[in-house]
Amino acid sequence: MNKDIKRVLLDKEEIAAAVSEVAGKVNECFGEEPVLAIVILKGSMFFAADLLKELKMPVTVDFMKVSSYGKGATSSGMVNLSLDTEIDLTGLNVLIIEDIIDSGNTLSKVRMLLAQRGAKCVKICTLLDKPDRREVEIDADFTGRVIPNEFVVGYGLDFAEKYRNLPYIGVLDEAVYS
Ligand code: PRP
Repeated sequence: MNKDIKRVLLDKEEIAAAVSEVAGKVNECFGEEPVLAIVILKGSMFFAADLLKELKMPVTVDFMKVSSYGKGATSSGMVNLSLDTEIDLTGLNVLIIEDIIDSGNTLSKVRMLLAQRGAKCVKICTLLDKPDRREVEIDADFTGRVIPNEFVVGYGLDFAEKYRNLPYIGVLDEAVYS
């Protein structure tokens, strides 16, 4: 295990189970209806890659790049959009794919940006939810695991751009960021 990781929160098998559960809920919700999946970069890349393979309806994929953390361990509250989707959302079922909801600022901004674009519906799925840290009111429609208020990295999630490639989700040792 990486020396900066205090403990593993979700190992490979536990992540796979959580992803399959989310996929099952999404499949049940949309049935055969086509979906546009919007992947929120960068943290969601691993989750999206695994989740999308388990979706059974016709799916198209696009990306938005939104970041809020900067280099710190807590949300700055400022959300920067550096890549937007250019797809016309009119009449589409949109599924936002997010790795984690923390303060909620990122998804709040994404939802606000997408709300005016005429989608038939906009649903949110997240692998992880940390409700204790919420600063704005927002909930996912499909959630993998609710987790405690600890700083987690791996499987796409970073601290200062590191640890994304860990194959598990682990709690980062406080010494790394304090
Ligand atoms: C992380 C994570 C979510 C967001 C959640 O992204 O991937 O998008 O923070 O936090 P919030 O609910 O407090 O907004 P980050 O801004 O670190 O960018 P990244 O995905 O490129 O790592």
